[in-house]
Amino acid sequence: MTTDIYSLETLRRQVLGATREIIRQIGIRQSIVKEIALEKKRQGLPLIDRAAEARLRSDIINKCKHHGVSEGIVLRILNNLIEHAINAQSSVMDERPLSPARMNTIAKKLEMDGQQVIHLEIGEPDFGPPTKVKTTASRSIAGGASHYCHEAGIHSLREALAQHIGTSHAREVESDEVLVTLGARGAIWLSLMSALRPGDEVLLIGPSYPPYGSCIRALGGKPTFIETHAHNEWQLDVDIIEEAMNESTSLLVLNTPSNPTGHVLTRDEMQDIVAVTQERGVSVISDEVYSDFSIVPHTSILEFPGSESDYISSMSKSFGMTGFRIGYVVSSRERIKRMAQLQGMMVTCVPEFIQIAAREALSCIDERLSYKRLMKERVLASYKLLSRSKFNVGEPQSSFYLFPRIDTTIMNGDTFVMKLLERGICVTPGSAYGKRYVDHIRIAMTQPIDTIAQAINIMDEVVG
Ligand SMILES: Cc1ncc(COP(=O)(O)O)c(C=O)c1O
Repeated sequence: MTTDIYSLETLRRQVLGATREIIRQIGIRQSIVKEIALEKKRQGLPLIDRAAEARLRSDIINKCKHHGVSEGIVLRILNNLIEHAINAQSSVMDERPLSPARMNTIAKKLEMDGQQVIHLEIGEPDFGPPTKVKTTASRSIAGGASHYCHEAGIHSLREALAQHIGTSHAREVESDEVLVTLGARGAIWLSLMSALRPGDEVLLIGPSYPPYGSCIRALGGKPTFIETHAHNEWQLDVDIIEEAMNESTSLLVLNTPSNPTGHVLTRDEMQDIVAVTQERGVSVISDEVYSDFSIVPHTSILEFPGSESDYISSMSKSFGMTGFRIGYVVSSRERIKRMAQLQGMMVTCVPEFIQIAAREALSCIDERLSYKRLMKERVLASYKLLSRSKFNVGEPQSSFYLFPRIDTTIMNGDTFVMKLLERGICVTPGSAYGKRYVDHIRIAMTQPIDTIAQAINIMDEVVG
C-alpha cells in the first residue's frame, strides 16, 4: 500500500516536471515568435507563412510517429500554438485590415466633416424591407408579441422557412430541422460553436468573408485558407482541399455565391466536395446567403441529403432586412437541438415580433424577385463599364459584388482605395480578404446604377 502511494507520488512529480518543462518551452517559443514578427516586419514579409507552417506540421507528424503519440491531439495543440503565435505577431506587425466596417467608419468621419461619400463598401442593400414587413413588425408589437419565445424560433416561422427552403432547393425539410438565428452571423457562430473543439482546424476558401476566420479563432480553432485566384476564375480544386486535410481538420466552410468574388460553385464541384468530406469525416458549413443573387445555376448543399452539413442563410440580403437580424440554419435534428440550446444560453431567443415580420416577408414573392432583378441589372451594367475601364474583371456569376483587379504597377490596392475615398467613393480593399488579394477591390452593388456608374468613372480617373 505504502509502496503504491509512494510510486503514485513519484509519477505525479514526474508529470509535474514534464508539464513544467512544456511551459518553459512555451515561454521560449513565445519570445522567439516575437523576434520572428520583428524580422518579418523589417523584411516586409507577410504575417502568415503557410509553407513554414506546413514544414512544422510535417516535422511534428514524424515526431508523433517516432514517439507513438496520437497525431490528432498533438496537431490540435500545435494549431493552438500557431494561432497564439499569429495573434502575438499581428499585434507586433499592426496588421489590422481595412475591413468593410473599418472603411465605413473612416467614410462616416469624412461625412461628419462635410464630405459627400458614395457607399459601396458594406453589403447592405439600399432597397430595404417590403412595406408589408415593416407594417407587420409594428402591428405585432402593438398586438403584444413582445415576450420571450422558443429558443429555436417560433413554430410558424420554422414551418414557413422549412417550406420556403424546401421549394427553393427541391428538398423536403421539416420544421424541427430549422433553427431561427440572429442573422446569418448568429447562425455561423452557433454552427461553429457547436461543432468545434479547441485546436480543430477549419478549411476556408480564400478570399473569404472575414468573420469566418475571426469566429474560428475566437473559439480556439485554426482557420486554414485554400486560396483561389482570379486568373482561373476562382475555380476550386478539390484535390487541393483534400491535400489540406489532416488529422485535426474537422470542418470545411463553403460560401456560394461567394463574398467577395461572387463565384458560384458548380454542381460537379459541390459533388466532389461532398464526396471528399464524407470520406474524410469532415463536416461542411455551407453559407448560401447570396443564393437568390446567383446568375448562373446555383447548387445548394441541401441537394446532397447524405452530407454531414449545416446549411446557412438569412433574410438580410434577399429581403433587404439587414437590421431585422433574421438568419437560419438547416441541419440534423440533433444539431439543431444543440444549437438551439446554445442560442438559449446566449440570447434566450430571437425577438418574437421580428420573427412574425420575417414570416410575412416569406410571402413577399414579387418584392424578392424584383430585388433579384434589380441587382442583376446593376451588376451587368457595372461589369460592362468596368470591362471598358482600366480594371480587370471576370464575368459575374452572381450579382451582389464585383471584385475587379487593378494594375498594381500603377498603384497598390490599399493606396487606391484611400485615394478613391478622398474623391468621395468608398469601396473595400481586397487586402481585407487577405494580403494575397491586395490588387483587388470589392464593390457592393448597393446603390442605384447611375450612382455606381458615377463611382466607376471616378475610379478610372484615380487609376489615371
Ligand atoms: C457571406 C456572408 N455570410 C453572412 C453574412 C451575414 O449576414 P446577416 O446579415 O444575415 O448576419 C454576410 C454579410 O455580409 C455575408 O457576406
